[in-house]
Amino acid sequence: MEQRAKVFVTRRIPAAGIDKIRQACNADIWPDPLPPPREELLRRVAGCHGIVTLLTDRVDAELMDAAGPQLKVISNFAVGYNNIDVAEATRRGIRVGNTPGVLTEATADMAFALLIAAARRLGEAQQYVRDGKWKTWEPEGHIGMDLVGKTLGVVGMGRIGYALARRCHFGWQMRVLYFDRVRNEEAEKQLGAERVEWERLLGESDFISVHADLNESTRGMFNADAFRKMKPTAVFVNTARGPLHVQQDLYEALKNRQIFAAGLDVTDPEPLPPDDPLLELPNVIVVPHIASATVSSRNGMAEIAADNLLLGLAGKPLRCPVN
Ligand code: DGY
Repeated sequence: MEQRAKVFVTRRIPAAGIDKIRQACNADIWPDPLPPPREELLRRVAGCHGIVTLLTDRVDAELMDAAGPQLKVISNFAVGYNNIDVAEATRRGIRVGNTPGVLTEATADMAFALLIAAARRLGEAQQYVRDGKWKTWEPEGHIGMDLVGKTLGVVGMGRIGYALARRCHFGWQMRVLYFDRVRNEEAEKQLGAERVEWERLLGESDFISVHADLNESTRGMFNADAFRKMKPTAVFVNTARGPLHVQQDLYEALKNRQIFAAGLDVTDPEPLPPDDPLLELPNVIVVPHIASATVSSRNGMAEIAADNLLLGLAGKPLRCPVN
C-alpha cells in the first residue's frame, strides 16, 4: 500500500483547505490558537514531506534541517513570505508557495477603513463616547481630514496597492501617486496614477498607504526622515508588514504631530503589547493584523495553501509558487 505523505500544519486553517489535506495526507495539525513554540515546531516537522506554515512561523535552515532531506514543500498560508528563507529552500530544492489574489480586495478594504478611520478620528471618537465624555454637539470638536479630491500616495503598486488606489480614485476622486521599482501601466492608464520619486510621494501625498514586500531594501523605509518629509496633515496607513516602518520613529512623528494620524493593521512587534506607548496616542488606530479576515479570503487562502501543498508533494509545479 502506498504510504501517505507526512505533513505538519502549524495551525488550524479553514475546512476548505484542511479537509483536502486530511483526505490526502497523514496530517498532524497543531490544535492550539497560539503558534507552536519553536522547540515543538522543530520536533513536529521531523520526517515531514510537507509543511503548512503561517506568517508567525520562522522557516529557516534550522527548521529545514529539523524536517530532514525528504521535505518537498513549504506552503505558506499568507501572501507575504518574509517569514521564510526562500533562498535556502530553493538551494535545497524545496518548493515554496503562497496565497496571493484571494485577499486583495479584503486587504484594500481594510487599508481604506484605516485610512478613513484615522482621517476622521474614529478611534478617539469612540473612546470619547465610551468614556462618558459626550455631553453635547460640538461645532469645533473632533475635526478630521477631508478625503475627496486629495492625493493618495501608494508605496508598492501591486495588486493590493492598485485595489486601494481604485477605491480612492473612483470613489473619492483622489489623485494617485505611487512609488515602486516597476511601472504599473494599468494603474497609470486606468487611474492616471503617476510614478514618482520617494521624496515627491512623501511631500505631496495627503494619505500614504504602504503595500510593499518586506525585505532588506524595504525594511524601515518609513523612518524619522520619511515622516519629517510628510505633510503635517498626512495620514499613514500600513496593512503590509510592521517592520516597513520604524515604530519608535512613527511614535515620535505622531506624538509631535509631524503627521496627523496613522492606521495600522500591522505593527512591530506583533502582537503589540497592551502597554506599548503607541497605544497611549489618540491619533493612531491599531487593529490586530486582520486585513485578510473575511470569509472568502480565508477560505480562498486555505484552498490555495492546500493545493500548493498537495501539488508540491506530488512533485508538480505549485498553484502559486514563490520559487
Ligand atoms: C498575508 O497574507 O501576508 C497577510 O499579512 C495575512 O493574510
